Amino acid sequence: MKSALFCLSVFVYVIATVNGENPYRFFDWKVTYGDIYPLGVKQQGILINGQFPGPEIYSVTNDNIIINVHNHLSDPFLISWNGVQQRRNSYQDGVYGTTCPIPPGKNFTYTLQMKDQIGSFYYFPSLAFHKAAGGFGAIKILSRPLIPVPFPQPAGDFTVLIGDWYKINHHKLKAILDNGHRLPFPDGILINGRGSGASFTVDQGKTYRFRISNVGLQNSLNFRIQGHKLKLVEVEGTHTVQTTYSSLDVHVGQSYSVLVTMDQPARDFYFAVSTRFSSKLLTSTATLHYRNSAGKLSGPIPGGPTTIDWSLNQARSIRTNLTASGPRPNPQGSYHYGMINISRTIRLASSHGQVEGKQRYAVNSVSFKPADTPLKLADYFKIGGVFRVGSIPDSPTGRKMYLDTSVMGADFRAFIEIVFENRENIVQSWHLDGYNFWVVGMDGGSWKPASRNQYNLRDAVSRSTTQVYPKSWTAIYIALDNVGMWNVRTEYWARQYLGQQFYLRVYSPVESTRDEYPIPKNALLCGRARGRTTRP
Ligand SMILES: *[C@@H]1O[C@H](CO)[C@@H](O)[C@H](O)[C@H]1NC(C)=O
Ligand SMILES: *[C@@H]1O[C@H](CO)[C@@H](O)[C@H](O)[C@H]1NC(C)=O
Ligand SMILES: *[C@@H]1O[C@H](CO)[C@@H](O)[C@H](O)[C@H]1NC(C)=O
Repeated sequence: MKSALFCLSVFVYVIATVNGENPYRFFDWKVTYGDIYPLGVKQQGILINGQFPGPEIYSVTNDNIIINVHNHLSDPFLISWNGVQQRRNSYQDGVYGTTCPIPPGKNFTYTLQMKDQIGSFYYFPSLAFHKAAGGFGAIKILSRPLIPVPFPQPAGDFTVLIGDWYKINHHKLKAILDNGHRLPFPDGILINGRGSGASFTVDQGKTYRFRISNVGLQNSLNFRIQGHKLKLVEVEGTHTVQTTYSSLDVHVGQSYSVLVTMDQPARDFYFAVSTRFSSKLLTSTATLHYRNSAGKLSGPIPGGPTTIDWSLNQARSIRTNLTASGPRPNPQGSYHYGMINISRTIRLASSHGQVEGKQRYAVNSVSFKPADTPLKLADYFKIGGVFRVGSIPDSPTGRKMYLDTSVMGADFRAFIEIVFENRENIVQSWHLDGYNFWVVGMDGGSWKPASRNQYNLRDAVSRSTTQVYPKSWTAIYIALDNVGMWNVRTEYWARQYLGQQFYLRVYSPVESTRDEYPIPKNALLCGRARGRTTRP
């Protein structure tokens, strides 16, 4: 079925190329509540076309993806696309700062283009605390035919969505946060929507690709397969130096592809996922089943790493393969990011605390408060008083935490450095919509200008979500080549919900459709944008 679909898509692709147009793929999604039992107890899940997790989006570089999302929930709803860049088109990003919520009983058609991208990503519901109920699924962007991929075609391509999970209903979780409290520790870990019993069937001697995304709410997870090695080949759209690991840390919001060769005697093996850096250790297993298996699961479940140093060393070993192709035939390394002068340094530090007796989280002391109108629409219609550019400082100030609709201004085509400073003792995971960035350095302690001497200015990995270890820093470089209003957020979902996020407004004074697409004709209009017209 999948290969038939693939052949069809290649066929469509060829026809379309002849016509000089990129192919279109259409999806019609019905979002509903439904009963799910991932940890053995009944709970309310968010289903897409009856499925939990939601259907996979399978695409090829530059495909146009048209998704008509029908909201049958009793709540407003939005989907966002983690790692898909929405080039020139932040209107499609599906977060509250860019797009009006789809009201209950209504629909909205997203128009995405997988422009100049390859790799493994996922989508998720961005509003309320819907992510704790499902509504997420995998996104695969394959290389165009004739563009070389730096490894032989695998015998199969498995999606592995992992994440921590609560048995508590998502409305209740949201109410706990709204009432100013912290969430309890999660109840378990799901692998493809199941607390146990997921299974992957393989043929002995063959090599398979596993695309692993952490779609959970807060915990960093470690992934491993009993008796098998993981060869890393791709991270969020970048083909990596192919290093072999016995296990892999996947921080919340991140995606990785590994190749696994089925080189063991034919039996069943444990597929194990467990929490890292957490007070309690949660582990879930699935089965790697050899088709000619002669034996059941046996032996101890393989254990994960235990030190932060192990993780830091692994993170630093993940690098770009400079001679491999990316979405285009030229090697990915031809853009020498290490030779470009930095025009600005931004330092971001998170903090936790209470505002008016309620638990909040902040970036540089500002705890994000949504406005009554999506910021992107306020910008487009020039509606004043919704947000102020510059409402979050470029560096930590030490000020007491306060609420604001924080928007940072930045110039189109600037080349900037961001240092994430983690003064807390948890692992952080930061994501930037609209972009990939180079993870040039990370280390323990405080960042200083001299820390730049240890940056990797040659083959750092380019990705969209990076971890920052406890009491440590991570530095990234970004070429701001995508105009729009882009969400910068922690992927630790309760913290995101309670303010650890802001928007980066990448602005060009030249209003040209070459730099940014016009507002979509079907854009939903809400708040102070209600009743405006999207046609010039
Ligand atoms: C809602 O769906 C209908 C078709 O079912 C479509 O014609 C319409 O454009 C959609 N609305 C939006 C806002 O995308
Ligand atoms: C990098 O990619 C090239 C080109 O596909 C490939 O031949 C080579 O094996 C890769 N090198 C590593 C270290 O992964
Ligand atoms: C970068 O800055 C240095 C020193 O200010 C300057 O000499 C050099 O020409 C600049 N390089 C580029 C590519 O702009």
